Amino acid sequence: MFREILYQGYERLLTGEIVKHGVPRHIAVIMDGNRRYADRVQIVRNYGHLRGAITTEHFLDWCWELGVKQATIYAFSTENFSRTENERSAIFDIIIRKLDELACDQRTHDRRMRVSAIGEVHLLPDDLQETIKRVEAATSGYEGIHLNIAIAYGGQREILDAVIEMARKVEAGELHADDVDESTISKHLYTSGVAIPDVDLIVRTGGDIRTSNFLPWQASGSECAAYFCAPFWPEFRKIDFLRAIRVYQVREHERESAATRRTLKLLAACGYAEMEGVVGQVKRAIGR
Ligand code: IPE
Ligand code: IPE
Ligand code: MG
Repeated sequence: MFREILYQGYERLLTGEIVKHGVPRHIAVIMDGNRRYADRVQIVRNYGHLRGAITTEHFLDWCWELGVKQATIYAFSTENFSRTENERSAIFDIIIRKLDELACDQRTHDRRMRVSAIGEVHLLPDDLQETIKRVEAATSGYEGIHLNIAIAYGGQREILDAVIEMARKVEAGELHADDVDESTISKHLYTSGVAIPDVDLIVRTGGDIRTSNFLPWQASGSECAAYFCAPFWPEFRKIDFLRAIRVYQVREHERESAATRRTLKLLAACGYAEMEGVVGQVKRAIGR
């Protein structure tokens, strides 16, 4: 009880700090640790996935509250197809149920949340593909907040698919190889249709410090901030979410400070001697 009161106080304090600075526009999350959580609390592993899905709902509420414009969640990787038939079908059943709920949930419509799936959706069972189509169709006109569900997703495969598609176009004379640049590749990725393709912040729960083939192109172009934390996804709380955002804000502050320092150095090098004073003041202001 006392712990809960403390927690709420800390959460409010952190929220107050965070809203004063810019929040990331696009957050991507690797929701890891469902089975380890289940093992720890001694429930069947598939139930761990269900508990994880509940955290996902909270996560979307937090994104909405803070004004995040786009969230991409890693729901199922291409590597995850190698899990047992029992686990795969349990995960797919949960996703079907949650997507159906999302399509009917008043919050989806009030927030004008657009839902899209990214990945090799054709590899998924038919009923799941149908559900995805339904929720995408029900929300296709919305632009309040975007939710991308990475499902049957693999980052290298995404880039490979883009390369194959571009090669086809070159062969057909629709694209010139000399015109291919970063933006051409971005336009051929699964995320080409989403509002904000580049990721600002990537979060991974469950204690592992790796990105598991998730959005390699979208995350590196923007040099996004990364937050790795120990809690398993079902126990990820709002304070963990807020801490992740704070890491992004510190990172942005550093980036801006570095840009200012470079500009001032350049001006000083060009002979603007009086800039030295300004440099000192700015350095003090940004704490360097
Ligand atoms: C993430 O949790 C969910 C999916 C990959 C579908 P895991 O199932 O990987 O759980 P851990 O990491 O083994 O605990
Ligand atoms: C990452 O979790 C993928 C998802 C969260 C869907 P995994 O548990 O499948 O990843 P690795 O194999 O540990 O990197
Ligand atoms: Mg895992």
